[in-house]
Amino acid sequence: MIRLNKYLADCGVASRRECDRLIVDGAVKINGKVAVLGATVKEGDHVLVNDKRVGDKQKDCYILLHKPKGYVTTVKDDLGRKTVMDLVHVNVRVYPVGRLDYDTEGLLILTNDGELANRLTHPRNEVNKTYIARISGSLAESERLALERGVVIDGVKTAPARVKILQRDVHHTRCEVTIHEGRNRQVKKMFEAVGKEVEFLKRVAIGDLRLGGLKRGDYRFLTENEVEYLKNL
Ligand code: URA
Repeated sequence: MIRLNKYLADCGVASRRECDRLIVDGAVKINGKVAVLGATVKEGDHVLVNDKRVGDKQKDCYILLHKPKGYVTTVKDDLGRKTVMDLVHVNVRVYPVGRLDYDTEGLLILTNDGELANRLTHPRNEVNKTYIARISGSLAESERLALERGVVIDGVKTAPARVKILQRDVHHTRCEVTIHEGRNRQVKKMFEAVGKEVEFLKRVAIGDLRLGGLKRGDYRFLTENEVEYLKNL
């Protein structure tokens, strides 16, 4: 017997938490009956998600994509915009881990491994994410320190971050920003909190896993060592 949300995540439907949402929304049926949160599945059960059969566990697949701007980080977009799924052509049903904004580019992992997706996005695990941000205007040292110590966004102070200035002139500042929270539009909101606008944002690393020289829109499969590394983060 296995919990339904784990079964669905293992089958590559979505992360465990997103599967819980599907269950709450009544999108999941076990043997013809709408499933409830906390339900379990046993061998031979007939599981449907949005009336489509969910099969046995597929082979685990781990992809590192260089997301370009102009793509949404979802499997499907209600507004008909291009999604990151348009860039990845594999036979396995993978989905993006976490989110990058429509106009943000950079490192995005896609997988069908619900356990790993959960691990990488769970706030408790404090996985470092590193971004290159170009900001309008010159970032003062007092503002850089404020960002590192934490600023209030959406009523809650951000956790300590690392902000390194790479280049600065009167018009722009290029910084490397490392955060471990994954709040909505966090980097942009942090700079907004010190009165600065982010003009360009790119994620270059998750932990020690780096985007490297991968071109925009290209992807590669993670190596076994990289997968092991992420599982142990
Ligand atoms: N922070 C943001 O503001 N946007 C992203 O896409 C990622 C982090």
